[in-house]
Amino acid sequence: MNPTELSAHGKSGVSRRAFLKGSGAAAAATALVHGPGLVAEETKPNVVSVGLNTITLDVNGKQQKVDVEPRTTLLEALRLGLNLTGAKPISVDGSSGGSTVLLGGKPVSANSILALECIGKPIVTVEGLGGNSTAISGEIAVGAIDPVCRAFVNHDASQCGFCTPGFVMAVKAFLAKNPKATEAQIREGLNGNLCRCGTYANVIPAVVDVVKGARNGS
Ligand code: FES
Repeated sequence: MNPTELSAHGKSGVSRRAFLKGSGAAAAATALVHGPGLVAEETKPNVVSVGLNTITLDVNGKQQKVDVEPRTTLLEALRLGLNLTGAKPISVDGSSGGSTVLLGGKPVSANSILALECIGKPIVTVEGLGGNSTAISGEIAVGAIDPVCRAFVNHDASQCGFCTPGFVMAVKAFLAKNPKATEAQIREGLNGNLCRCGTYANVIPAVVDVVKGARNGS
């Protein structure tokens, strides 16, 4: 397998290992041809370049083109390339949960994964939940938004709101696996998300309400 070919590693396009190998080889080749620090001028389709690469990501059900460098994180691609600013850069190592999005149905920290690794995998951000990130704390038709967002509004489960999109996506992933979760399980399941404003006392009842609502069919 040519390690620089994005399309040569199954549906996902490229493995992290192959990509790192490929980008290293590409960087070495570029340094030889163009000199160190220079960016290759030509970018062949499906080949990793040391400069910008146009890739297609499946975000919120749409195929979206975005220019990324090999080092670009998914969070940077979403926020800077696609103007989807719900996921937040709160911590560089993902320990705050602020950049949580769903990748292939699983919660991931968007700032801990490269955009190139996400090719071919469905990505869902808070903007894809039927409302938008400002809707969570704004004056909107509450009935139009996702039940988790609605519960956060009803329980006033956000103050500055910076952590809220990450919490909401973590709740979506948690409840998808644990639709009948108890309060204790909810507390444990969400312990990877931090809130500087300390809204935990409102977040937990909000999630309990979502479980009850699902049970009652509302
Ligand atoms: S509401 Fe401010 S950080 Fe959570």
